Amino acid sequence: MDPEQAVEMVDENTICVAAILGSTLNGEFEDVKRINDLLEEKNKETGWETAIHVDAASGGFIAPFLYPELEWDFRLPWVKSINVSGHKYGLVYPGIGWCVWRTKEDLPDDLVFHINYLGTDQPTFTLNFSKGAQEHHGELPGECHGDQGGPGEDGPLQHRVQGPRRATGGLLPQGPHPPRRV
Ligand SMILES: Cc1ncc(COP(=O)(O)O)c(C=O)c1O
Repeated sequence: MDPEQAVEMVDENTICVAAILGSTLNGEFEDVKRINDLLEEKNKETGWETAIHVDAASGGFIAPFLYPELEWDFRLPWVKSINVSGHKYGLVYPGIGWCVWRTKEDLPDDLVFHINYLGTDQPTFTLNFSKGAQEHHGELPGECHGDQGGPGEDGPLQHRVQGPRRATGGLLPQGPHPPRRV
């Protein structure tokens, strides 16, 4: 995104400018600081309060550690909300992510679902994130073996029953499992 062009397009109906920290295609970071500075000027001139949302799905857990001096987050006054996808960073099995707002007032209360559970107010605001890929990783050994192995063959299914059989030390029937066909 070209920050100049983007802020040029802002008008009185613009809710926010959404900047991406970690493009889906090549990981590139957009210049959030430049967008913030241009919006600062425009908001001052017009009296509007156009904010920035940072879609840090892929960069939110990279930038603070690798580029701590890069200002893209709540250090910039017009950044009001940031989302990040936990499941994009490895070792995270659920398809999980988060969105954080700068202040409580930046999330309109009519977007929050309130439920009174046993006398206590429990506010909920839920977002859906895409699924993680752990099911595919779990399937890889099967795919690498090509098939599950036929009767009596040395396939992954046979390995799966041999482990428990060894662990039970003979409590299970010995011999090929399932019984070899003759
Ligand atoms: C920049 C960006 N925003 C949002 C998303 C969607 O996030 P999620 O996969 O957690 O739903 C992606 C996913 O690729 C992304 O690259």
